[in-house]
Amino acid sequence: MKIFITGSSGFIGFHLAIKLLNKGIKVHGLDSMNNYYDIKLKKARLNILKRYKNFSFTKGTLENEKKLSKSIKVFKPKIIVHLAAQAGVRHSIKNPNTYLHSNIFGTFNILKIANEIKLKHLIIGSSSSVYGANKKLPFQENDRTDHQVSFYAATKKSTESLAHSYSSLWNLPITMLRFFTVYGPFGRPDMAYFKFTKKILEGKKVDIYNKGKMYRDYTYIDDIVDGIYKLLNKAPSLKIGKKYNNDSLSTVAPFRTLNIGNTKKIYLLNFINALEKELNRKIKRNYLPMQKGDVHTTLSDTSLLKKITGYNPKTNYKDGIKKFVKWYLDFYKRKK
Ligand SMILES: NC(=O)c1ccc[n+]([C@@H]2O[C@H](COP(=O)([O-])OP(=O)(O)OC[C@H]3O[C@@H](n4cnc5c(N)ncnc54)[C@H](O)[C@@H]3O)[C@@H](O)[C@H]2O)c1
Repeated sequence: MKIFITGSSGFIGFHLAIKLLNKGIKVHGLDSMNNYYDIKLKKARLNILKRYKNFSFTKGTLENEKKLSKSIKVFKPKIIVHLAAQAGVRHSIKNPNTYLHSNIFGTFNILKIANEIKLKHLIIGSSSSVYGANKKLPFQENDRTDHQVSFYAATKKSTESLAHSYSSLWNLPITMLRFFTVYGPFGRPDMAYFKFTKKILEGKKVDIYNKGKMYRDYTYIDDIVDGIYKLLNKAPSLKIGKKYNNDSLSTVAPFRTLNIGNTKKIYLLNFINALEKELNRKIKRNYLPMQKGDVHTTLSDTSLLKKITGYNPKTNYKDGIKKFVKWYLDFYKRKK
């Protein structure tokens, strides 16, 4: 099997690539290696991947259609896992352009190429943020997703829509995966748990929005990778489309949207307490009002993914934090 991963130097792409390479699968990664966050971390991930002889890599952007197309067509994958994107809710408030280019134009290029090569399965990373201002919990795939509250989320919702149109027009088998707050070793420095850890160790004040009165469905990276792995060969068919699509739809595509989360909502202050305990230090708290673009609670219903793959997330947040802290101290050569 050959799998093409976009965003292979990113957090999720890196972990997925490792899992596939360890299974003896050939992986070609593509990543722009941009400097949205610490480039050293992206380089460290890439260097680990380069140790595998069944790994090859193209440094390039999604927007460079020619280079992207060439790297995919030369490799001839059966499956593409499209994880490259401009991520981050807060950054999108002041920098919407990169989101438009990477997430919308970039995904459009992937769709075009996937269709040209008649790909067997295209898996695209979406986000729990598409549920936006929804109040009904847990979030289910057939809930309405019309009210995104950040530009990042709006671009993610747009990619779902673009992907559905391609799937419907060309019978392209596509799975959209809505990730719920993924965390763990080699994680993203722009995410709250990562920033908290850094600041606690530096003895600096930590900004905590809405006084920490928020809930997140924190999902450990190994559970996410396990879910993606189990889905690889479960490309949606037209029949599956019929089964899962809302009955009121008059068209059917080999397309499905799946939540992938831990199915538990964790109170942010409890998450912080667990970090303090693990680091053996107290956080200096700087309470701030709710940040624009943030949502109050996320919680996934993953019964559809479970039905298709047997997905069963195993890592509770305290164990996950323990593993993250252990990695952080080792990677950054810090002491508690
Ligand atoms: N980590 C989470 O909690 C989370 C939650 C919801 C959704 N997601 C989605 O999952 C996917 C992977 O997220 P991640 O956490 O690994 O993020 P990440 O930022 O660590 O990885 C994304 C990678 O894509 C690359 N990239 C960005 N723009 C590119 C472009 N235009 N061309 C080529 N490469 C580009 C970056 O260099 C980076 O290495 C993204 O689509 C993200 O939106 C992540």
